[in-house]
Amino acid sequence: MSTRGEATSVATREKARIFVTGSCDGLDQLRDALERHAEIELVGTSIGVAESAAVLTGGHLEVILHGTRSSTLPADEIASIREHTRAPIILLASGEASVLLEEALDADVSDVLLLPQMTENVVFAVRKAGRSAFRPAPGTGAPTRRGRVVTVFSPKGGTGKTVTSTNLAAAFAKFEGKRTLLLDLDLQFGDAAIMLGLEPEKTIYDLVVAPGELDSEKLAGYTTRHPSGLDILPAPVRPEDAELVTETKLSRLLEVARESYDVIVVDTSPFFHGPMLATLDRTDELLLVCGLDVPTLKNVRLALQTLELLAFPQNRIRVVLNRANSKVGMKRSEVESALEVKVRFEVPSDRAVPIAVNRGNPAVLAESGADFSKAIRDMAKGLQPAEVAKSQKRGMFRRS
Ligand SMILES: Nc1ncnc2c1ncn2[C@@H]1O[C@H](COP(=O)(O)OP(=O)(O)OP(=O)(O)O)[C@@H](O)[C@H]1O
Ligand SMILES: [Mg+2]
Repeated sequence: MSTRGEATSVATREKARIFVTGSCDGLDQLRDALERHAEIELVGTSIGVAESAAVLTGGHLEVILHGTRSSTLPADEIASIREHTRAPIILLASGEASVLLEEALDADVSDVLLLPQMTENVVFAVRKAGRSAFRPAPGTGAPTRRGRVVTVFSPKGGTGKTVTSTNLAAAFAKFEGKRTLLLDLDLQFGDAAIMLGLEPEKTIYDLVVAPGELDSEKLAGYTTRHPSGLDILPAPVRPEDAELVTETKLSRLLEVARESYDVIVVDTSPFFHGPMLATLDRTDELLLVCGLDVPTLKNVRLALQTLELLAFPQNRIRVVLNRANSKVGMKRSEVESALEVKVRFEVPSDRAVPIAVNRGNPAVLAESGADFSKAIRDMAKGLQPAEVAKSQKRGMFRRS
């Protein structure tokens, strides 16, 4: 019985997504063995870190295995990985490495393994590093809250990203009772606060230029509460301030936000810029907003290809068809076959939306009976972890 139980748990366990960098004796053989291992997904490999920067940043990796030929701690090599990802690092070395082992005790690495090693030992270390990355540091008390990051993206402007993200965040806060943060990452021209009828005094710009380490308390000092219960961290007021919101600052911000909130809804601009890649790295659900028009469809298809190149997991992408009821000579089935991905959520075109936008009161609150509002509330329900798991079992997100 126990053998069967074990077999099932291995089969249903998600594969650990790893990336291999650097070089050392025995690394090639280990990488080949890991590539064939049932519990490992080898997302990619490169000797230098710079050449794989995009995947390291956007690839949602669980663990980085880094081979080093240095007999002391390779601080530069670790720092260059850290420029792109916070994923735990396991150092791999061969030969005489006692100094390296000693120095690694205090360094930002999860483990050091001397090659050759049995593949199972390495897989165990990968699993362990991946899990402990999300645990609180020893002695810090209660387990850390792990909020989910829901990113609303479309490669085309005006498709309804901000309408979707503001209403979805309001629905999470008001109807699902979730501690919700709405983060406006349309850094140059964000209008999430305006759509909520707010004029916040502080923005993400004020937060990132403020001195001192970011923690939950500090974050709370920069957010603004909406009557629905959601907190918003708006985009900078001046477009030129956007560039100060660096990937490193944003990565830290998202980590801290996950400790304070159940859900972080991220509104975005139609570009794959650095902050967007850093956000993808931490995104649990990517809502890809599409419309019933050929140019948007073409760009969403390109975005899906880019996401694949970035090794973003396909099972985290949910296509949202906005204005799905518009009579414009295109059907949902045509969208699905053009994208080769199923539509997960339909949102109807609704007069209540522009009226609500102009009044600065999300339609989901102002017109709760409208078809649009029902669709958004269903979306908020459908994005609860239990519902996501059910849908994935039914294979709803697989390519058609
Ligand atoms: N389902 C809908 N029904 C009716 N109107 C809609 C709907 N979705 C969006 N709109 C209208 O389209 C306009 C543009 O939407 P929105 O601002 O959300 O797009 P966006 O993708 O955020 O654009 P940008 O790329 O410029 O940030 C809104 O002002 C709203 O009036
Ligand atoms: Mg917008």
